[in-house]
Amino acid sequence: MLRFAITLFAVITSSTCQKNGCLEGDTHKANPSPEPDMHECTLYSESSCCYANFTEQLAHSPVIKVSNSYWNRCGQLSKSCEDFTKRIECFYRCSPHAAHWIHPKHTDAIQSVPLCQSFCDDWYEACQDDSTCAYNWLMDWEQDGSGENHCKRECRPYREMYANGTDMCQNMWGESFKVSESSCLCLQMNKKDMVAIKHLLSESSEESSSMSSSEEHACQKRLLKFEALQQEEGKGTR
Ligand SMILES: *[C@@H]1O[C@H](CO)[C@@H](O)[C@H](O)[C@H]1NC(C)=O
Ligand SMILES: *[C@@H]1O[C@H](CO)[C@@H](O)[C@H](O)[C@H]1NC(C)=O
Repeated sequence: MLRFAITLFAVITSSTCQKNGCLEGDTHKANPSPEPDMHECTLYSESSCCYANFTEQLAHSPVIKVSNSYWNRCGQLSKSCEDFTKRIECFYRCSPHAAHWIHPKHTDAIQSVPLCQSFCDDWYEACQDDSTCAYNWLMDWEQDGSGENHCKRECRPYREMYANGTDMCQNMWGESFKVSESSCLCLQMNKKDMVAIKHLLSESSEESSSMSSSEEHACQKRLLKFEALQQEEGKGTR
């Protein structure tokens, strides 16, 4: 689990432009490098902010515990829900691009990473019958002496805990993610991210809420090409 908000003494490094580095979490490398022996999170093998050995704990289903965080406090996640949870974990731990969205105050955290609406809706659907006791998975736990997480509240199905995919994406991990208005300039933690990342990183005006329509258009065009190519190769990404 992304355990960032807990780092109370997070040094506020005056943004020394570490966009090419990694986040500063307890498992992160200083800089991304290839990890050919990844067990999971292979989307990031070519350039990874996690060591291959980190992914061992994600390699066996059901995943019980990642670092100090138990994933099964309200029972085992279903396979499909677990897969989405893994994709989020992999992005946070391993993506060489996560630091582009580094949290201004917590250097081990991300802020407002744009997720695709369809990704959030699919994720919600996959998890709706699974249960959780935390609305905000960063904050809503009782931590014991060894830093392990315990439920503070009762377990409830996701479909009761979160109103919909948007609510889940934008609140489950605190400020980490937002749902994008674009269907292209957004991440879904699969190979299509390569297209989105190219256009998201080329964005010059950082905080412009509405991306230029030409960037959107260019992204859509490239995504179509990418999808056609993938179909030819006969291997979908989902
Ligand atoms: C994982 O591998 C890295 C580099 O090979 C090493 O520094 C680290 O101690 C390893 N971690 C564990 C938990 O084995
Ligand atoms: C999702 O839930 C939020 C919070 O309850 C609500 O404001 C929003 O309108 C909902 N969105 C959709 C598409 O139903």
